[in-house]
Amino acid sequence: MKVLVTGGAGYIGSHVVRLLQERGDSVIVADDMTAGIEARLDGAELLQLDLAAPDAKSILAQTFTDSEVDAVIHFAARKQVGQSVEMPEFYYEQNIGGMANLLSAMHATGVEKLVFSSSAATYGMPDVPAVSEDIDCKPINPYGETKLIGEWMVANAKRAWGLRGANLRYFNVAGAGWPDLADTAVANLVPIVFAAIRANKNPVVFGDDYDTPDGSCVRDYVHVLDLAEAHLSALDYLDFDVRPHDTFNVGTGQGSSVFEVLAEIKAVSGIDFDTDVLERRAGDPPFLAADVSRIEKALGWKAKKNLHDIIESAWNA
Ligand code: UFG
Repeated sequence: MKVLVTGGAGYIGSHVVRLLQERGDSVIVADDMTAGIEARLDGAELLQLDLAAPDAKSILAQTFTDSEVDAVIHFAARKQVGQSVEMPEFYYEQNIGGMANLLSAMHATGVEKLVFSSSAATYGMPDVPAVSEDIDCKPINPYGETKLIGEWMVANAKRAWGLRGANLRYFNVAGAGWPDLADTAVANLVPIVFAAIRANKNPVVFGDDYDTPDGSCVRDYVHVLDLAEAHLSALDYLDFDVRPHDTFNVGTGQGSSVFEVLAEIKAVSGIDFDTDVLERRAGDPPFLAADVSRIEKALGWKAKKNLHDIIESAWNA
């Protein structure tokens, strides 16, 4: 199969590119290289392209035709929640505009299969211990809104011209499948704590007075390699003519608190550090974990790695 992976030079995308190549699929990566790293590509063909650029639609359509692309996995997007609040228009332009160009080019050239990177950010602040795909989505920032609208675009294209789409709602992704594909951004809890340790600073905990077992926020941390495998399962699922669902949570179903993550980092690194407890961070839901029953049943996918594997692989990388 020939797969075009947008954002394939990024942290998660490059894991999927490697798994596709390992199973013998041929890959073209479309990436604007603002966060992408070419060394992650293992020789996959690179189309350097901003999907939201005025000529992106025609360039993508030409690529789909020339390279006889069968399917698309769409990662390319801006993904910093805080930045999305500061620059909402940029997020709409990039994430929605880029996806509109992509879908138009797919429609024009008859490319029917799409796996879309969505996010648990579509849920907002759900009031349930394990969130299922059927609850009302009430995103609380422009980033989460662009992901929810992306899912609507998939649903509309399905109705209008028969797109076969799957939306994967990622929970908290961390770890490394291979050391050279590690997350180099310092934007999420695990890399932030590693950066603090390296700088001899105390990691910080945003609030220890939540109504959770140890007072800190609980999240569902999923290993990036497990998540990458979910994309291959989703791609294969699109070959079935009867597909009862289009949207799937990708998590472990297990919550870990910030204090539990910090304890695991101490255990794995062998470094004892103090932590500073700060005020709660605005917009943090106290508890966010996935109900994973749908993806297990429909895609036969289940996370294999736990918090220890996540921290150990990230630390080694
Ligand atoms: N946290 C700290 N200290 C830090 C950094 C984070 O205590 O220095 C806490 C946060 O308050 C939160 C948890 O660690 O409780 C995880 O925070 P992250 O910023 O790593 O991740 P979020 O859960 O806020 O967001 C992540 C992704 C988003 C995605 C969301 C969906 O980064 O892109 O999951 O659930 F939208």
